[in-house]
Parts: sequence; structure tokens; C-alpha cells
Amino acid sequence: MRIGVLTGGGDCPGLNAVIRAVVRKSDTRNSRVVGLRNGWKGLLDPSPMDLDSKMVSGILHVGGTIIGTSRTNPFKDASGPEKVLKNFKLLRLDTLIAIGGEDTLGAASKLYDMGLPVVGVPKTIDNDLAGTDFTFGFDTAVSIATDAIDRIHTTAESHNRVMVVEVMGRHAGWIATYSGIAGGADVILVPEIPIDLDEVCDLILRRHSRGKSFSIVVVAEGAQFAEKPGEKGTLILQEKQTDEFGHVRLGGISQVLAKAIEHRTKYETRFVVLGHIQRGGSPTAHDRVLATRFGVYATDMVHQGDYGKMAALQGNRIVAVPLAEATSKLKTVDPEIYNMAKEFFG
Ligand code: F6P
Repeated sequence: MRIGVLTGGGDCPGLNAVIRAVVRKSDTRNSRVVGLRNGWKGLLDPSPMDLDSKMVSGILHVGGTIIGTSRTNPFKDASGPEKVLKNFKLLRLDTLIAIGGEDTLGAASKLYDMGLPVVGVPKTIDNDLAGTDFTFGFDTAVSIATDAIDRIHTTAESHNRVMVVEVMGRHAGWIATYSGIAGGADVILVPEIPIDLDEVCDLILRRHSRGKSFSIVVVAEGAQFAEKPGEKGTLILQEKQTDEFGHVRLGGISQVLAKAIEHRTKYETRFVVLGHIQRGGSPTAHDRVLATRFGVYATDMVHQGDYGKMAALQGNRIVAVPLAEATSKLKTVDPEIYNMAKEFFG
């Protein structure tokens, strides 16, 4: 069997661990693996690379992806899907493993409906893909953000400052919630709940009235100020231009928030944007294990012809869930976890 593999969307620690697992497992089945470079671009404008055990040796712990990634949307141009199907045949592929988040796997789901024998692997540091309890990459991003919050704690305390830490999370505040809990944040702000500035400042003032001289606020990049109580406001953007999937570039909420907090509370406030640091470098042991389990399972799925599905983690078991189901909605933060985190606010 000839198996194509691609990695799409934002990169994520653990991608190489999945690629390695797919190649090693395929070896045991006498199947060949072909790397399709730079996401869906690899099937629109192919420059394939044969992947063998030698090529994936030593990459388990390495961040990024050896086959490259991009935010190419095969449905952007009307001729795109036909091109993908045609090149798939020209490359003499029997099946495809697409490793990606909502956009990459959303395209995979539509292409499956058009006849592409594809299996998905759930990737994103944001952990917002439905159908799976966790995506690989999330644990690494949370560890990096938690380490940063720990470091910010000491400087916040030395200077008696409020520090606003901006983490990734376009639609969902999973990284903010988990790193906020782990790092002992005094306020956590997520895209799911509009920011109430009065409440944020009250929490900080209350904390300082208890004798604390510093506070840590963790905010997800996709969090928005409420324009009216209970309503969502406007996203803070770096650029209005959208990518091929229609996403704007977020970033800057921490700066706006820091200014507003300082203005209202009169406490000196600073902000820090963690940005792509959260996506770079070596995956945690947890993510290496999860990525390996996903890669092995997805390889079994393609050999069984179990197409149109994604390897997913449910409880501690890897199962197959339909791509259509996984990409039909986003997985936002569990209110039970967020409400628990709130008990430590202020
Ligand atoms: O992978 C998802 C994500 O991490 C989002 O949280 C973030 O908005 C986006 O990627 C930024 O990615 P890039 O700058 O690579 O387009």
C-alpha cells in the first residue's frame, strides 16, 4: 500500500512523532509512506518525498514537521478539489493520512465525500477539535505557558505589578484555562465568555485589599470585551487580512487589557504575548506518547480501509470517529473546569 501523509495548519509539537509512528508502523505492513509537503499544497502542487525508517530516525523529540505545513485550502479555488483527486492518482497513492486541526480535517472530510480515501489525526495546541478529549500539542503548549507564568510571577511580585499574559486560543480558552490553573493565575479570560472589565478590576482590587501586591491575569488571544452585558465584543487583531480559511490574525488583547486595568485600578500593569513560543520546540513526554498512539492507530485504520474517520482519544482509549462529526463544531472549554478555576480568582 502507498500511504500519503500531510501536516496542515499551524505547526504543533508532536507532528514528527506522528510521522515517525506512521512510517514505522507501515514498515511492519510492507507499506510505503510518501510525505506530501506543506499541507494540502502537497496535493495541489506536488513535490513528494519518500519517507523511510532512516528519514524518521531521531525526529520523535523534535518540534515542527519534517514535511512542512501551510494553511492552504484546497477548496479556495473551484478547481482545487479535482486537482487534489487527480494528483492523488498521479502519485499512485492508495490512501492518505491528514494530520491537522479543524481546517485541514474539515477539508479532508469534504474530500472524503468526493471519494478520497482519507483518515485524520487530530492536531492543534488549541485543543478545540471535537470528537477527541485531547489533541496532541496541547500538553506541550500548556507546559510552556505554565513555565512562563511561573517566571512572570517572580518579576510581578518584585515590582508589585499586575501582569497580563496572552496565550494562544483563537476560539477556545483551553490553554488559558489549563495554564492559568497550573500557574495560579488570579484571573483567566477566555473566548467563550465576554470580558467584563469591571469584574476583572474588582477581582484585582479585592486581592490587593487582602494584602497582595501583585496579580497575574491570563488571557486567551481570542477573548473579547463585552460591548453590552452578556454580549460579545470585537476581536483585537494584528491584521485584518484573512488566511485561506477565512481566519484573521489575532493578537494584542493583553496590551489593551493591561492599559485598561492600569487606568482603572491605578496599579502598574505590564503585558506579555507568549505567541509562537507555545508552538515551538520539543513535545512533552505526554504529547510524544499521544502522537505515537494516534499515528499507529491511523496506520491501522488505513490498512483496514476505515476511511472518513479520525483517530481520537476518548477516556484513555484511541477510537475512530467520523471526520464529519469531529469537524461539525468546535470543542470549547468545559464550563465545569472553568468554574473550578474561578474559585481561585481574586
Ligand atoms: O494553531 C492554532 C493557532 O495556534 C491559534 O491559536 C493562533 O491564532 C494561530 O494558530 C496563529 O497561527 P499563525 O500565526 O501560524 O497563522
